Amino acid sequence: MIVTIDGPAGSGKSTVAKRLAEQLGVRFLDTGAMYRAMALAAKRANRSLQDPVAVAEVAQACQIRFRDDKLLLNEDDVTAEIRSPEISAAASLVAAIPEVRRQLVRLQQEIGLQGSMVTEGRDQGTVVFPGAQHKYFLTASLEARAQRRLQELIRKGLTSSLEEVREQIRERDERDEQRELAPMKPAMDAQVLDTSDLSVDDVVQLLMRQIRG
Ligand code: DC
Repeated sequence: MIVTIDGPAGSGKSTVAKRLAEQLGVRFLDTGAMYRAMALAAKRANRSLQDPVAVAEVAQACQIRFRDDKLLLNEDDVTAEIRSPEISAAASLVAAIPEVRRQLVRLQQEIGLQGSMVTEGRDQGTVVFPGAQHKYFLTASLEARAQRRLQELIRKGLTSSLEEVREQIRERDERDEQRELAPMKPAMDAQVLDTSDLSVDDVVQLLMRQIRG
């Protein structure tokens, strides 16, 4: 069984997808982390994120894999490093490069062949797993999403302001929605859920009830 959860930054999809996977007893796949690792690889190789040929070369040469809860880039644990606001913006840029998407989509589909999972991202229901049994698209107002992201940054000890976070998310949404290849959008057969006024527990319970039928 594949459950896809797509949606914009701060919609709650990561937390929900992780909890849902735990409750269902299946694996969890964070595909945003894979784009983030690609962005970090390009940055470490000193390649311009605006240069599709240079980034594609890096993408072909690097190895990304999950080990338990950790994400390894060429066997180096980059789990914490990929969570900075700088890498958030960079990931959205490299995610528009066709070769990067080709590589990561293939990797995601290979992981999907290994058994049931809950996978989250932007294109899981539309492109990567069009035949998934359960598809959701979580959304929330820009204000709610910026608030959530700010709290997350503060918990990690990073400083930022609501205005700054709001602007970063708005820019990223625009780029993710408007790129030519696999733009962020709900699959035709996805259920769209606005989580602005819902807690994580509410959303997980709702989805569990639907999936368990
Ligand atoms: O979910 P996230 O914020 O960690 O994702 C980081 C960026 O990666 C996001 O701005 C767009 C890109 N992304 C994508 O294009 N497709 C996915 N399936 C997941 C993420």
